[in-house]
Amino acid sequence: MPASGTAGGAGSGGNRPIRRYPEAIGFLGGAIMVKRVLVTGSAGRIGRAVVAELLVRGHMVVGYDLRPTPGLPDANNIVGSLLNADLLARAMAGVDSLVHLAAAPDDSHFPPADDNNFESELLPSNVLGSYRVMDAARRVGVRNIILASTGQVIDGHLDDRNTPITAGMPYRPRYLYACTKVFLEMLGRVYAEQHAMRVLAVRLGWCPRDAKQIAEIAADPESQDVYLSPGDAGRFFAAAVEADPAARPRWAVVYCTSLPRQQLLYDLEPAQKWLGWRPAEQWPTGAE
Ligand SMILES: NC(=O)c1ccc[n+]([C@@H]2O[C@H](COP(=O)([O-])OP(=O)(O)OC[C@H]3O[C@@H](n4cnc5c(N)ncnc54)[C@H](O)[C@@H]3O)[C@@H](O)[C@H]2O)c1
Repeated sequence: MPASGTAGGAGSGGNRPIRRYPEAIGFLGGAIMVKRVLVTGSAGRIGRAVVAELLVRGHMVVGYDLRPTPGLPDANNIVGSLLNADLLARAMAGVDSLVHLAAAPDDSHFPPADDNNFESELLPSNVLGSYRVMDAARRVGVRNIILASTGQVIDGHLDDRNTPITAGMPYRPRYLYACTKVFLEMLGRVYAEQHAMRVLAVRLGWCPRDAKQIAEIAADPESQDVYLSPGDAGRFFAAAVEADPAARPRWAVVYCTSLPRQQLLYDLEPAQKWLGWRPAEQWPTGAE
């Protein structure tokens, strides 16, 4: 059974050199060190891919989710809420990098529906929960933070065909979910600039969670251009964990999608510049 309400043993990451990967060569003269990484949302679609990739590379992974995370030993398999500040802080003990993925999913039924999940899900998980995560990281002293944002924060630019969209363009969120991700990015910026933390916000493309979403992407060429395969997502977050955070600005925004089928919609250069990461796959690879 996964540990419920307990954090796994802390600080055992050590500095064992492990296998080299091209995207991280250059950090500490080419040797990749084993990292202890906390992944929130570790049982989710992207979380499972990130955990798997980090484990393959030899890192020590602590999962944190409302439900158990497949593939992690009980001691590192924390079942808990983002609202539990004490549990978060215990989970972060000895952690080098934090990958914050846990969030309530999008609210694409809004508008026009009167009902939406802002107060019931988005506010507690994406706003208050993200604050609890960042503040626990500050208190514990986690230095390298990677936050899962979304391309939806600049969705409006796609309507104008103003592409490829770069990180410097103004926010144009379409839905309330995207508004919570604007908050997340700005939360990260505040903590990066006020405290000794490096925060990277990554605007992810579309990694489908179920057959319905796969069918939606299959029917829409533009969605195929912002498709993100689980494999590329896992390698992206692993590169962000392994790259030297001091080599990038205290706060930075990058995009992460797989290779476009027709047209490059998001600027992928910053991710290559700061993390040495490039996508390797293309729709529909990995979509099953
Ligand atoms: N999948 C995509 O296409 C996509 C695109 C852009 C951004 N994102 C972002 O990437 C992240 C991961 O997305 P995903 O597709 O893996 O989502 P997912 O819904 O599959 O997984 C999210 C996980 O977070 C957990 N979680 C939610 N609220 C929580 C809380 N309050 N406390 C603890 N755990 C909680 C859930 O149990 C779930 O396992 C999210 O932040 C999402 O907003 C995803």
